[in-house]
Amino acid sequence: MRSRVTVFAPATVANLGVGFDILGLALDAPGDEVSVEPLETPGIELAAVTGDGGQLPTDPAKNTACIAARETLRAVGAPTGVRIWLNKGLPLASGLGSSAASAAAAAVAVNELFGAPLSVGDLLPACIEAEAAVSGRHADNVAPALWGGIVLVMGLEARDIHRLPIPDNLYLALITPDIAVPTAKARAILPKDIPLRTLVQQTAQVAALVHALHTNDLQLLGQAMHDNLIMPARAGLIPGIGQAIDAAHEAGALVTTISGAGPTLCAVCNSMATAQTVITAFSHVYERLGMAYQTRVARPSKLGAAVKIET
Ligand code: HSE
Repeated sequence: MRSRVTVFAPATVANLGVGFDILGLALDAPGDEVSVEPLETPGIELAAVTGDGGQLPTDPAKNTACIAARETLRAVGAPTGVRIWLNKGLPLASGLGSSAASAAAAAVAVNELFGAPLSVGDLLPACIEAEAAVSGRHADNVAPALWGGIVLVMGLEARDIHRLPIPDNLYLALITPDIAVPTAKARAILPKDIPLRTLVQQTAQVAALVHALHTNDLQLLGQAMHDNLIMPARAGLIPGIGQAIDAAHEAGALVTTISGAGPTLCAVCNSMATAQTVITAFSHVYERLGMAYQTRVARPSKLGAAVKIET
């Protein structure tokens, strides 16, 4: 058995506009890091959480890294427990898959500590269980956090996860206004029923989106990602969203969507230069509104949760 394993898991953008709960993408940065060491006794000990400004629960029963670790220990059949260190690189409740990154990093770390008896797919239930405890039972953040790349989530089993091609020249301009949008709240606000006409439109766009990825067609991708269902319902939770979308469009973005449940906005661009212009345009909007924010240009990453250091 290893004596210590440290794993990095990436931030993720869920939904990709029209793919509510079924599409997600791993980013090259930022991400969370989890280190684990074996205990001689059963159970989970949370040694330290850093980078969260003291906001995360330290009760292992409520912390996603600990829940994923507990479930992974069970799946491995380990009689003993682990001690965990969680270093948050991701802002909380930002729409960048913070809970999923912690869960994926913990699941991979525990598996590695015991000699990696489980496959990535075997770790999915543990991560879904952890995600369910804080933001609902959906896998569009945990699946890309585990596998990397762009994934289609047809269901909650590993066999339902399909990796899709990453188009060339895809750059994402991200802005995170400094407000927390808890996923549970952003889900509660959604319409419970949708008209058939809307369903038909949304289905056609998801199909076009998948086609755009397979044909490396960023123009079509931008068109396909325009969401008239989830985004309008959530727009009221994100001040400045309308102005930000207009500003990004004028700066050359192909489309702007809410990343996951928000408040991060994600503009799809076809070059680094355009993404940087969009960042400037986004920044002007939030400066005018007098709101603090963080920005970043990111690219999709092929890599999901991966071992950084092991001894
Ligand atoms: N698909 C989920 C949602 C992602 O939009 O509620 C949450 O991170």
